[in-house]
Amino acid sequence: MKGSVMSVLVVLALVAQDRVACGLEDKSYDYTKYHTMDEISAWMSQMERENPDVASSMIYGRTYENRNITLLKIGFTSATPKKAVWMDCGIHAREWIAPAFCQHFVKEILGSYQTDPKVNMLFKNLDFYITPVLNMDGYIYSWKDNTTRLWRKSRSPGTGNCTCFGTDLNRNFYANWGMVGISRNCCSEIYNGPTPLSETEAQAVTDFLGAHQNQLLCYLTIHSYGQLILVPYGHPNISAPNYNELMEVGLAAANAIKAVHGKSYKVGTSPDVLYANSGSSRDFARLIGIPYSFTFELRDEGDYGFLLPEDQIQPTCEEAYQGAMSIINYIHDKNFRGSAITVTATLWTTLVASWISSANVF
Ligand code: ARG
Ligand code: ZN
Repeated sequence: MKGSVMSVLVVLALVAQDRVACGLEDKSYDYTKYHTMDEISAWMSQMERENPDVASSMIYGRTYENRNITLLKIGFTSATPKKAVWMDCGIHAREWIAPAFCQHFVKEILGSYQTDPKVNMLFKNLDFYITPVLNMDGYIYSWKDNTTRLWRKSRSPGTGNCTCFGTDLNRNFYANWGMVGISRNCCSEIYNGPTPLSETEAQAVTDFLGAHQNQLLCYLTIHSYGQLILVPYGHPNISAPNYNELMEVGLAAANAIKAVHGKSYKVGTSPDVLYANSGSSRDFARLIGIPYSFTFELRDEGDYGFLLPEDQIQPTCEEAYQGAMSIINYIHDKNFRGSAITVTATLWTTLVASWISSANVF
């Protein structure tokens, strides 16, 4: 009796170990909770360790408080340069659902690329560069206590005789810097900084995007809240050359989101559906020639706002995953038409094979 219980336990342990080793499932990390920066950093190392063939980390800058800004590079390795998709989360500290989404997204693609032919094809043709928390200093500060929970900006001190802390990183990029939707007061939530790229975090992203300009097809930056998909530009008087296509792709993503849990996302430029702004990373990405650039404003529409309860993490991430995948699949298929046909052929083969095997039953 004791022996059989033991062997059942041993089998269970082996199965569990195997699943973790394959990166299929990880019971030890709770994706339905918000995590501290230390937990997220440990999780990144774990992802790398468990998926050495397809995931590696890369440090591409430092924060004001001297932390390493790290991304996960995910995809099959290739001898030739690959096209790529960028995703950053947590540029605004208090938007905790954003880092949670980046983690969910990484878990999903790593858990499905071996079995899902679409994701497998993405791993072949594209690299994903994913930064789970860009504004690490701000994120850590927002975890400090109740009085700091709603911190938004970086943590660099004001200059001159201004004594407040922090620059809005999403107003600090070299994209019509200082023109609209900003403040020159360093105490403001939308202070755009003493100069463009005064913040090392904005500089790090700028350098990386610049160095991978020709590779990057897509720039996704994840925020909350408002249930919006924003397209360039934040300035009301300029529009992207591919505005119509960006709107189509954005609307398709909103439909994909709605199909999951019925939530409505609005699509448009920031001045059209939120407010005008300048110096955003989304606009910078489009300005340097990355054709598909979007901001996601995740749940909700203001009931909880930045304090989205943990029981909404899973559904929010599930729907946003489908939204992001709708965009990424569109871009992939447009750039790799031949590969899209291969996937279709694979699906047909599978279908015919299962039809033949089911026909044998009769
Ligand atoms: N994440 C947003 C930003 O980048 C804040 C959105 C606030 N939402 C709202 N509906 N006002 O500024
Ligand atoms: Zn934001």
